[in-house]
This record gives sequence, C-alpha cells and structure tokens, in this order.
Amino acid sequence: MRSPSVFSLLLLAPCLAIAQSSTASSVAAQFTVPASADDGVTLLPNVADPTAPNAQVKCPGYTASKVSTSSIGLAAHLTLAGAACNVYGTDVHDLDLKVEYQTSSRLHVNIRPSHITSQNQSWYLLSTDYVPAGSQGTGSMTTSDLTFSWANTPDTGFGFNVTRNSTGDVLFSTTGTKLVFENQFIELVTHQQENYNLYGLGEVIHGLRLGNNLTRTIYAADVGDPIDSNLYGSHPFYLQTKYFEVGSDNSTTLVMEQLDTTEATSNYTSSTHGVYFRNAHGMEVLLGANNVTWRTLGGSIDLYFFSGPTQRDVTHQYLNVIGMPMLQNYWGFGFHQCRWGYQNWSVTEDVVDNYARFGIPLETIWNDIDYMFQYRDFDNDPVRFNYSDGKAFLQRLHSRGQHYVPIIDSAIYVPDPTNASDAYQPFNDGNATNSFLLNPDGSLYIGEVWPGYTVFPDWFQASAKAWWKNQMVTWHQKLPVDGAWIDMSEVSSFCVGSCGTGNLTLNPVHPPFKLPGEPGNVIYDYPEGFNLINATEAASASSASQAQATPTTTATATSSATSSSSTTSYLRSTPTAGQRNINYPPYVINHVQGNHDLAVHAVSPNATHHNGIQEYDVHNLFGHQILQATYAALLAAIPNKRPFVIGRSTFPGSGTVAGHWGGDNASKFYYMYFSIPQALSFSLFGIPMFGVDTCGFNGNSDEELCNRWMQLSAFFPFYRNHNVLSANSQEAYVWGSVIDATKIAMDVRFQLLPYLYTLFYYAHTQGDTVMRALAWEFPNDPSLANADRQFFLGPSILVTPVLTQGAITVDGVFPGLVEGTDTYYDWYNKSPVAVPSRKNTTIDAPLGHIPVFIRGSSILATQQMAMTTRDARNTSWSIIVATGVDGTASGSLYLDDGESLVPKATKMVSLSSSTSQNGTLSLKVSVSGSYTSLDLALANVTFLGVQSPPSSGAAVTINGRAVANATYNAASKVLSVTGLDNALGGKAWGGNWTLTV
Ligand code: GLC
Repeated sequence: MRSPSVFSLLLLAPCLAIAQSSTASSVAAQFTVPASADDGVTLLPNVADPTAPNAQVKCPGYTASKVSTSSIGLAAHLTLAGAACNVYGTDVHDLDLKVEYQTSSRLHVNIRPSHITSQNQSWYLLSTDYVPAGSQGTGSMTTSDLTFSWANTPDTGFGFNVTRNSTGDVLFSTTGTKLVFENQFIELVTHQQENYNLYGLGEVIHGLRLGNNLTRTIYAADVGDPIDSNLYGSHPFYLQTKYFEVGSDNSTTLVMEQLDTTEATSNYTSSTHGVYFRNAHGMEVLLGANNVTWRTLGGSIDLYFFSGPTQRDVTHQYLNVIGMPMLQNYWGFGFHQCRWGYQNWSVTEDVVDNYARFGIPLETIWNDIDYMFQYRDFDNDPVRFNYSDGKAFLQRLHSRGQHYVPIIDSAIYVPDPTNASDAYQPFNDGNATNSFLLNPDGSLYIGEVWPGYTVFPDWFQASAKAWWKNQMVTWHQKLPVDGAWIDMSEVSSFCVGSCGTGNLTLNPVHPPFKLPGEPGNVIYDYPEGFNLINATEAASASSASQAQATPTTTATATSSATSSSSTTSYLRSTPTAGQRNINYPPYVINHVQGNHDLAVHAVSPNATHHNGIQEYDVHNLFGHQILQATYAALLAAIPNKRPFVIGRSTFPGSGTVAGHWGGDNASKFYYMYFSIPQALSFSLFGIPMFGVDTCGFNGNSDEELCNRWMQLSAFFPFYRNHNVLSANSQEAYVWGSVIDATKIAMDVRFQLLPYLYTLFYYAHTQGDTVMRALAWEFPNDPSLANADRQFFLGPSILVTPVLTQGAITVDGVFPGLVEGTDTYYDWYNKSPVAVPSRKNTTIDAPLGHIPVFIRGSSILATQQMAMTTRDARNTSWSIIVATGVDGTASGSLYLDDGESLVPKATKMVSLSSSTSQNGTLSLKVSVSGSYTSLDLALANVTFLGVQSPPSSGAAVTINGRAVANATYNAASKVLSVTGLDNALGGKAWGGNWTLTV
C-alpha cells in the first residue's frame, strides 16, 4: 500500500487547491496559514504496532448472569470476569445485554454500560433523534428466522451466536472470544470460515468483495480517494454471502474457495445475511483469514442482524431500519457538467452553449467555489457572478428545461472583527443563534477552510438548522438555484484545532498549501499512457522537461517526510482511570490523514456542541446532518418539490435525503474501474443516486479515457463530468470521438430513463437496488462472488465496459447464458447473444462502443433522446419485449410528474408477454392510477428473440382490432411493429390493452 503521506502529496495537493479570482486585490497582502498548522502528532496505528497489547490476551471477558427471557427476547447482566485490563481505556465493570427479536428477519443485540440511566447520561449513546434505530415489530422468538444463543465459557466468558434457523447455519459467533468494553475501546471478535465473502463496510475505494486481509477504518475524512483507506463516508454495515454446493442427495457443503468465471456453474445455492453496527464513533473492522474483529472508540454495541436470505431481502431489511432512498427528481437523471474553474457567468454559459452547439444533451450546469465572493457560502461574487446576470442566465436555462446547481461548503467564514467592510451576515446570524461549534471553554471553535478562518454549524442545535434554512431561502430569492452540492462535510478543516482563535484580524487567510495553478504547485502531468499513444511527442516532452527541471517543480513529490521508522518517535497514550483522552485515544485507528492524528485536516475531536456532546463521539455524523439540513432548507426555498442534494460525507440514512458522488478521484483508468465497486457498495448503503467525477477529477484526462468514461457513467444514476482547477478541459465536446461516443451512450440512457426512474420508485418504496452486482442477480453462481467489472442496471440491463487503456475488446460473462437459464440481447442490434463455448467470453468493444445487453424476460418501456429530460418526457413511447428462455417477459413503468414531493397523481403500468404454442405473441398492458400527462403515443413495439415468423402472418391487433403489420427479421430474430402512433388514440397508457401478432 502507498504511504499515506506520499500519497497525500501527490494526489491531495491538487484537490485541496483553490484559485483566488476576483478578489485578486487582496492576494498580495494575504496571510498564508503556515503548513505546520495542519501537522498533528505522529501516532502509530494499532494495526501496525507489533508491540500493541492484545486485548484478547490481556482482558478478562465478561460473565452473563440474571438472564431473563421473554417471547420477544432476552435481557442479562454482564460482569467483568476478572481484574480490569484497562488496555485502551477504562473497563466498564457492569453491562446490560438486551436482545430483541424485532421482526421475523431482524434481530437486535445491544450491550451498554449498566450505569447509564435517564439520570446518568455520562456516556455517549447514539440518539434515535439523529440516527433511527430498529424498533420492536411483530417479531418473536418463535417466528424469527434467527436465533440468539449464548454461553459463559470457562476461558473467555460470555459469548454469543446468531444462527439461521432454517439452515442451522451460524451467521455470527463471538463464542470463545472475549468481549472487551472500555470507555474508549470496544472489541468484538467473530469467527469466519476461510475465504468468506463480505461486502460493504464503507466508504472505501476497493474491489466489491472485501477480501480476507484488510483493515477497514471507518472515520470520515477529506482525502482524495486513496485506495483501501478511510474516506468521506461511514457505513458500518456488511453483507455476507455463503455459497453451498448441493450434492445429489440434496446435502449442502459450504464452498470455501473462489471459483473463477471460466466454467459454467450449476448445483450451487447461497444464503446472504447482513450486519449493521449502529455506532458513529471512529471504528475499525479487521478482516482476518478466519475472523472479523469490530473495534470502536466508544458508544455501545448496537448490532442488527438481517437474515436475508437473499441480498435483495437483506437490503430491504437494512433500509427498513435506516430509511428508504428518496425518489429523485426526474431531471436529476439528466447529464450534469461541472468543473472547478468556470470563472464567471459567461464562461459558465459558454459551456452550456457549447453543449448545444455540438448537439450533446445537457441538463444541468454546475459551479464550484469559483462563484462565491471570497469562497463564502450564500454570497455570490458581485463582479464575476453577480445576481442580476445570474438570474437572467438561470432564466434562460430554465426556459430551455435546464438546471443550475452550485456547490455549498460546510464551513462558514468569520469576518475580521476589526474591519467593518469585511462583514458577513450569514456568520452574524448564525453566531447570534448559537449555531456554531464551540471549544471546550465555550468560545467559538475556529478552523480554516477555503475562505479563511471559519466556524462550523452545530447540527445538534435546532437553531442551526433554522439558520441554514433562512440562509438558503434568502439566497434563493437572489438566485433561484435548483439544488445543492454539499462539500467538505467530513467535516474538513485545513488546520489542527481552533487555529483561528486570536487570529481573526488576519482574515481572509490563504489555506496552508499551494493551490492548482499557483506558482510552485504541482503541474498536472501528461495524461495516463500518453507515451503509449504519442511515443515521439512524449519522448521529446520528457527530455525537455528534464532539461528544464528546477528544484521548485520537482520538489513536490519527492520531498515527503522520509524519516525512517527507526528514528520516528510516536506519541503513545496510556489510559488514565476513568478519564477519556479524546484527542489521542489510546487505541489508534489507522486514519489516513497526517500521521493518523484524528485532528488533522478535520474539526478536532474536542470541538464541543452546545448540548455538551464532543465531536469525538459524533464526528461521522456531520456529513449526514448537513444533508438533512440542506434537504429541509431547499424544501423551504422550493416548496413541495423534491430537493436535489448531492453530498460528500454520508452515513446510514443519507440516501433518504441525498445522493453522493465518489469524491476526488483521478483521471486514471483504474479509478474508472473503482467507480463500479464504489457504486455497488452505495447500492447496499441505500444511496442509489451515485456517480463519480466522470473523465476523472485530479490530473489531466485524455480522449480515450474520457471517451470510455462518458459512456460508462451514462449507466450510473448520477451522471456528472467534473474536473479540478487548472487541469485541461474535459467537457464531452472537447474531443471529436468523445462527442460521438457520448451521444451514443446518452441515446441509450435517454431511452432507459423511464426504466431508471421506475427503478428509483422501487428503491424508494421497497428498498430495491438500482445498480446491481452480478452476484445479486445470480445468487446461485459462486463464480460471480467477486465480479465487479460489469454490473446490472436494475434487473434488465447488463453493462460490460472497457476499463483498460488501449483495449478494443472486453472479457465478460453473461450469467446464466451457458447454463441455459437466461438469454441476452445486444442493445444496439437487438440480436440474441450466441451461447459462447465458455462462460467468460470476449466481446468486441472498439473505442466509442460500450457493450450493453438486455436480459431476456424483460420488458422495457422507452422514450427518446432529447436535449433535456423535460423534452424527452414529451417523446413517444416504444416497448421492447426481450423474450426469456420460456417465451415470456415482464416489466413495469412508474409515472408521475417527476418533481412533486407528494405527487397529486401517479400511474403504474404492468407489462407482460407470452408466446402461445402456435407462435402467437401477446403483449398485455394493464394500467392503474390517474396520472395522464405521459399518456403519449406509442410508436412501436419490438419483440426480441422471436424464433420464427408469427404463424398468423404479420397482422397485429390491439384489443382484437387490426392496427398494423409486423415485420420479421430472421437473422436478428426481431419482430417489429411500427406505425402504432394512432392505434391507441395517441395514448399509450390511456387504458388496458392487449396486442397480439
Ligand atoms: C473538493 C471537492 C471537489 C471540489 C473542490 C473545490 O476537493 O471534493 O469536488 O472541486 O473541493 O471546491
């Protein structure tokens, strides 16, 4: 693994950079915060410390007593089984265990200190005011599919098992390990079989299957997408799938090895369960060869077990606790263009115009921090982004059905109190209403972010939410934005501690690092693989740059701290009885920032909320709470419309109010690959509105990468191209081949928009996923356990993108095709995919072509591409019937106005088809609901995989009345029915109908 310090220099510096623009006059005099302000202490992460005490060896464990059982659960008392070990804190002598069979598929296990009573709250427990908890439903011990059992074993004391009743399979077992429960350290060790398949535990840049040798640190961090480290969001949830081989006598044997995807697989089955550790503290989950260890820095053990037994069931069960994803606006599924560096309204509008000029659909244009007056929220630059020009621009956008989304950062500028002209009303308003975080002594906690020294909203204060709402409403009156992009919400601060205290007269200060484009900062390199496609130019550029190299330009990447580990001294905290050391907890998580100090590049753990809560206990919640506050604020500004919010830091439940983008990736092929497992993980986390910075954020992109990436992201729910300041432009119109490739992929996306929207309806109403791993759609195929270079969009669309440079083919599987259970059709020519001789097959994919397949048994109702989703919604309908192996297919379509929080009317269309023995095809459409605005004409119906021409000739009837003729193509096995425009009175979904041919 890369050393985080070197990595941060290479990748973080650009992402943290900034351009001072209209306020250039103040640049010369501007004070730059010294780089050392963001240096923390040097700590040695526990997982890298060979001398770290092993709590399992040192600690005594607990003994259960006073066990009382009822039909819905169990309660017990746990007592420390020996002398306190105080290994990473102070042992808690007495604990309460509570087990609840909440539903037939959900079991809740809670262990917390006994001394917490309503009078004594001296322990932080995650309140249901902020994060929902599962409550007792209709479950009982007798109806549950899960059983909780426990034992006091002689050497290790209390341990418990969770077993699936229907199979007798042990899903979670701490038996034979010691429970450790201290004021700053909780440890729970669980057994696993070899090669277990675990997914989730985010946010992380990693393959979908987490593997069996990985430490997952969970601690929200502002960091530019390092691999295998903690990142922006915190999702202490995992999904586990166990595969079983079924013997001829129906006996099942657990599969303990990884099967590859070259062979057909049959005679397997699987079961899946989920585990959610409801805790917002810094956390570590150690995935070992035969065990999984949970460690947290506080709170309680608050575990939810979901019995599945399929991924779909587990996701439903999990989202029932944390909340279903919101139904996004229809327009949110259009294409979004963004970049850091659109310096004024006219540059921004030029981008919009260029998209139109090249005929590429553009739904939404975004502005980064460039639009702000000195990077202050709710305050536009009066020259470059003034309100009157902005209003007129937004008016032009809105009249064409386009939208505008600006960034809003998490920190609030504190004006220089000695300079009246520096006044900043949003700060004054928030300060007057006690809306900002404090220092332990009650003074304002003042960190540093883009605008200079800043404060941070205290979301535990109702007044802070009201203040945020007021700011949004007031600003929205000046500039009617359509949504909000919430950034820096981990919550990021560029210095350790309250570095602005006593320094406010220096404001506005410059961040403690160089910004992209500023002299002396890293200059973006040639795009990845430039030397492969431009060998001669690359060679001469390389020799020229070597000749010109100066210490300033080369120093950046090489001057990183090279202190050898033998000379490094680490700060070690030893526990003090009864006291917490929240700044330097004795257990050091492997935090990616600085030298693992929790205070580096973030608001420090000792920042204090007005209600007394310390940031240490709730750090991971800030990003979630700002999304909730922003959702409410936008709803106030734009009443009754679903708020459009995209955020960086997330927590379980964030999908109820927002979507998420993958953060500061880089313009590299491997980041394009990682976007797939990242998206699939967010499917599991209940945040289906996900996408990444298409064409890459950090560094220069190039034609080939952007060509591939614009096509791939067209199949992600959130489709946005975004770029760092001072990198080369990468809008879709910059390169000829990217224009064409983008239009090809967008054409597919637009046709599928009604399908994508329907998928979100099911996500919202029942917790279905939108982007899906192959393993979830084909749960009985163990060879797919690790498949994350392809994905399904809903149940019906398989995407197999090229993810490597220079490739013109891609290897992929068509699950179920070799096995004979499934069929697939090429999206573009609608022909059936021939059954390959081996499972993993090579597919042609020249540049500009993204392989997309329709899975048999699906019916898709499609519309056509237009320049915006508004216009696409006015195009006529088509129906694609992709016949399955058994001759049938089905699908559905959800319709509403696409924006109302509570739509006045909705419509649900069910579509099913069958083939009779004599070859007659019939398509049945049944409609319920009263929404009529999308009752537009049906243009055509296309049946795929029709084995022979229809016996009745080619006459097509609707409800028994002849309406058109069909044409049959024997080579592609496609039967097309066109000219239907008037057949249904111009209303595809006006009522029930049956088409036969
Ligand atoms: C952060 C964001 C990035 C944005 C930049 C400037 O790095 O993740 O998307 O462009 O800040 O606001």
